[in-house]
Amino acid sequence: MSKRAANLVADRMSKKPSLVLGLATGSTPVGLYENLIALNKVGKIDFKQVRTFNLDEYCGLKKSDPQSYRYFMNEKLFNHINIDMDNTHLLSGVAKSIENECEDYEKAIAKAGGIDLQVLGIGSNGHIGFNEPDDVFHNRTRQVLLTPSTIRANKRFFEKEEDVPKTALSMGIGTIMSAREIILVAGADKREVMEKLKEEVVSPQVPASILHYHPNCTIFYVDETI
Ligand code: PGA
Repeated sequence: MSKRAANLVADRMSKKPSLVLGLATGSTPVGLYENLIALNKVGKIDFKQVRTFNLDEYCGLKKSDPQSYRYFMNEKLFNHINIDMDNTHLLSGVAKSIENECEDYEKAIAKAGGIDLQVLGIGSNGHIGFNEPDDVFHNRTRQVLLTPSTIRANKRFFEKEEDVPKTALSMGIGTIMSAREIILVAGADKREVMEKLKEEVVSPQVPASILHYHPNCTIFYVDETI
């Protein structure tokens, strides 16, 4: 799964060296990042001109905090490839004005020409980015309240459940859907929600179901643990 997803990313990078790549955190994309690192090390792909925008960041965590998504991305990808760190963008969870931070992020994406390829994972509750199940689809980058199920799922990265931030900044569903191409990676731990997606019912209660409306979306899903 990770190799196939990495090959797709590599193909798009070879077609457009200054690709604008949307990135995701979580355990599932780590294999994809390992494959990209390996391809970069043997000179098959070049990140020199690539620009990246991550989906989300926890509120209240500085980028030096090992639990922050900035730290995660540096550790799992950016420190091991020839990317210009100035071209890697994550929302700041400690910005003075959350409103400005979210607005500036949307502007920065637009200024880069929009996202060419967005990488997604999926939460067990169907979230993409931190767009949690709700009565409506939220359009643009904003502050979100994490659901108890997301806090429970993510507590494995923290010492105690109480340490998991309760809010985050996240690209909106509209931001994600504006990407020209999307890939989603999911393993067997997501079987239940992936089965739900197959029903082709589009509902904000399963935020990832909106992807049925995207014209260029590929899902890499392994439904068995080997
Ligand atoms: P996971 O996270 O890959 O760690 O399961 C996915 C997500 O919550 O988007």
